[in-house]
Amino acid sequence: MSSNRKPDDPIISLRKVSKKYPIYDRPSQKLIELLTLGRKQRHREFWALRDVDLEVRPGTTLGLVGPNGSGKSTLLQLVAGILTQTRGDCYVHGSVAALLELGAGFNPEFTGRDNVYMSGAINGLTRTQIDARFDDILDFAEIGDFIEQPVKTYSSGMFVRLAFAVAIHVDPEILLVDEALAVGDLIFQHRCINRIRKMRQEGKTILFVTHDLQALVRFCDRAILLDKGRKIGEGSPAEVAQQYQALVFDRERREAGEGEDWIQHEEDGSLPEINTIPHIHNRFGAGGAEIQGIVLLSPDGAIVNEARAGEELQLLVSVRVKQDLENPIVGVTIRDRLGTEVTATNSSYEGVTLPAMSAGTAVTVAFGIKMPELRPGSYSISPAVASGNIWEHKIEDWIDNAYIFDLAETDLVYGMMRWSFDVAYRTISS
Ligand SMILES: Nc1ncnc2c1ncn2[C@@H]1O[C@H](COP(=O)(O)OP(=O)(O)O)[C@@H](O)[C@H]1O
Ligand SMILES: [Mg+2]
Repeated sequence: MSSNRKPDDPIISLRKVSKKYPIYDRPSQKLIELLTLGRKQRHREFWALRDVDLEVRPGTTLGLVGPNGSGKSTLLQLVAGILTQTRGDCYVHGSVAALLELGAGFNPEFTGRDNVYMSGAINGLTRTQIDARFDDILDFAEIGDFIEQPVKTYSSGMFVRLAFAVAIHVDPEILLVDEALAVGDLIFQHRCINRIRKMRQEGKTILFVTHDLQALVRFCDRAILLDKGRKIGEGSPAEVAQQYQALVFDRERREAGEGEDWIQHEEDGSLPEINTIPHIHNRFGAGGAEIQGIVLLSPDGAIVNEARAGEELQLLVSVRVKQDLENPIVGVTIRDRLGTEVTATNSSYEGVTLPAMSAGTAVTVAFGIKMPELRPGSYSISPAVASGNIWEHKIEDWIDNAYIFDLAETDLVYGMMRWSFDVAYRTISS
């Protein structure tokens, strides 16, 4: 560390950092380049990071979010010194312990014990220091006698527990945590989070990659959003979480658009069978029935990706029953782009009793909607099928954010929605 640094100077500083990977479409291309000593270029270029500027002050817990492939792991590996940037400058003024993605750091052929000593040494600990901490590491990792087995025999959970135990016991100034935590069980995750919190209180600097936006908001002081290698957002964790959700939502909406062949129209004009679910975000249920498709249609039968306030539309949900169901109920929840529930309903609530269904049969339920005057933007529909009645039922299948549509810009709506107001007045003379 140079002597002219002040305590509050950035401990990590990236200036216009870019990282390029060569991409070979075939292994033979790499061979040609090697044999010609690079005179024949056979690869394409891929920029995993582009012109990233970042300053992290000591003691900050910085959250990194972004879609898969946005460059989060690459950024951590640059800070860890495992990779070198192609362009730009990357300064790190402190000791680093890194808990990177699975596979990094440990030698699979060696025992857990040997790996603890090796990665301790890589992180600057002497043998005596590791001896002194070994029991604590083992306690934290909770892998028992497996410590004497080669790491390649470990489950991914055991692997990550040991890696995390080592990373926190080398007592770094900077801790890098990639998505690794998601692999451990919940109890371990809680212990890790507690530990990270303690390190944060001790004034360590932490870079934390996560998809868990609640964890982001709870544990980080600041956050950045990466997309396609660029830093496209930076600010408070709550702000960045919103930007990230909006980005994901928008992308899904655009992908949702295509293809009409999955609507099977009936000759007699009765409700069609829908066979596509544009997105499966999060799905759960007992499995007695399955959502088979969902679509929003205009009166002339066209797929609606963009709706207008006041428009009359039909929302169709097809469900196939896997076990005999006495009282099936089909419903939908509508959310805005930040995940706020705008409304929800189901067949039973709307006064329609669906017939008992036997295993193997399917049903399409149509919900006629007059699109309310809501704030323009993206909305999502989450369909569900349950059995029972509104008061007491079992969810058989539920899919979050399966269908996404846009509500077009109108100049009518201020705030969240338009209410109808009656205006009256009386002029009062003095
Ligand atoms: N060694 C590599 N060679 C070529 N491309 C790579 C390599 N490592 C990562 N990439 C690519 O760089 C992009 C960013 O990867 P990564 O940093 O792992 O993203 P994230 O962690 O945000 O999912 C991805 O598109 C990935 O496929
Ligand atoms: Mg990654």
